[in-house]
Amino acid sequence: MPPAMPSSPSSASGQTGRPIGMAGVIGTGSMGRGIAQVLAEAGVVVRLADANPGAAEAARGFIADMLARKIAKGQCDEAHRVATLDRLVIVRAEPEAFAGVDLVVEAIVEALDVKRRLFSGLEPAVGPDCILASNTSSLSVTAIAAGCAVPERVAGFHFFNPVPVMKIVEVVAGARTAPWVTAALTALAGRTGHRAANVADSPGFLVNHAGRGFGVEALRILQDGVARPVDIDRIMRDAAGFRMGPFELFDLVGLDVSQPVMESIYNQFFQEPRFRPSPIGRNRMESGLLGRKTGAGFYVYENGRARIEPDPEPDPRAGAAVDAPIWVGPAADPRWRGEVQTLVAQAGLQVDAGARPQPSSIALLLPLGQDCTGAALAHDVDPRRAMALDPMFGVGRRLTLMTSPATDPALAEGMAVRLSTGDVAVTRIRDSVGFVAQRITAQIINVGCEIAQMRIAAPCDIDPAVEMGLGYPTGPLALGDRLGPLHVLTVLEGLFGATGDPRYRPSPWLSRRARLGLSLTHDEA
Ligand code: NAI
Repeated sequence: MPPAMPSSPSSASGQTGRPIGMAGVIGTGSMGRGIAQVLAEAGVVVRLADANPGAAEAARGFIADMLARKIAKGQCDEAHRVATLDRLVIVRAEPEAFAGVDLVVEAIVEALDVKRRLFSGLEPAVGPDCILASNTSSLSVTAIAAGCAVPERVAGFHFFNPVPVMKIVEVVAGARTAPWVTAALTALAGRTGHRAANVADSPGFLVNHAGRGFGVEALRILQDGVARPVDIDRIMRDAAGFRMGPFELFDLVGLDVSQPVMESIYNQFFQEPRFRPSPIGRNRMESGLLGRKTGAGFYVYENGRARIEPDPEPDPRAGAAVDAPIWVGPAADPRWRGEVQTLVAQAGLQVDAGARPQPSSIALLLPLGQDCTGAALAHDVDPRRAMALDPMFGVGRRLTLMTSPATDPALAEGMAVRLSTGDVAVTRIRDSVGFVAQRITAQIINVGCEIAQMRIAAPCDIDPAVEMGLGYPTGPLALGDRLGPLHVLTVLEGLFGATGDPRYRPSPWLSRRARLGLSLTHDEA
């Protein structure tokens, strides 16, 4: 297999091969204190420093409290707490204080020039085998290393917040990072109980890069006028199985954080259309609709809780508009048609099971990568009496019912009412190739496939890193395998064909494996 990460020939500083016994952590804010805790708990002696007087002491006190909490939960004992705290030594924020350590991890302010100055200042004070690692989440590791005399010893060691809880760390190789450096960091991660994902230096590394599909496509769906944020969130939670909808997530993180990240990754990839942000995000950020922190974002917050309107109460009278048998259209997976016919029958509606609909029947179409307009025309049914149900996520807690501009609104409302039962809710959306969930999941999978295609990370690292770092129910490659690579390819080709927008062009990783009938986790020799 060609190397996943470019690296220069072995470095001048060489490799000792011995495990890291002593480390420095510089910057003891939310990240630095977490990193210091997990290192010290793993038996590493940690020298702690911060430019702000008293900050390192506060961090040590914070760690002491965290360890006390662990004792209360029965997760460790007093001896572990004492030994861990003994290994945390506070030093001055000066290069000489780090003489003799095997590793320095910096978690200072996210500014390239400051990080560069810190590392180049440390170089003469530390030994030739000392690794310099940055916890940066958005800067180029290669650019940080470029300020050093020995860039081979510099790598990214990107933890997630809160460090002791988020058991994933990206070990990032810059363009010149030596393999012994990433190997030593990977081994150290194992000792702290974190899973190391080996990643090439690339905008957003692995996890933040993989996160581009979800929110960016959700904003695009909003921009296309297909559905409201609350509807998109409900579909992604209840039908697609995500813990949180994209707009809930925007509100939680804050648009002042998410919007600059979206713009930065888009620009770092030189305007890659897949990552093109929406003007809606920037407008809302500039208007101060940041989310929970300002009391209003995509939702309004009262006492810290989102005010979310409930699903509309179905009006039984509207159901009377459904006055004819329902003809369920054919589907890419024949089982989908059977499932929906059963649903229709359970709703007390008559099923028209013919190969073609009776002239009076209502068409309920099951398109993949097609809008309701296209599906109605393709099946040559009366578009006024046609609507579409997203078949890709099964008949679960929530159905997505899509109409075309020609669909009789009373009929669509009637169908939504008839299909809503105590267990199943129906969300109505306007016409959209790929509905909502097909579009967003296809983009998540496509971005994950591109990460594999570009050899930013190995397939075996992509899914666990995304599940642990982003909290998705499954990583992008396993999600694609579950939904069916060919189905995902159909959705993307449909979107690409209908819009002409290169954001939807399928990754070659996806299209080859889909056509060959291979798993998306299948690597190439
Ligand atoms: P923070 O603001 O909580 O802490 C930074 C600390 O560094 C402060 O205590 C500050 O006094 C100190 N500091 C700043 N410049 C310094 C210098 N030149 N020398 C010594 N100390 C200095 O920041 P946070 O959130 O802990 O972030 C630190 C780094 O970790 C940044 O690079 C950030 O991008 C990255 N990161 C942050 C994550 C987060 O969720 N907060 C997640 C992953 C990475």
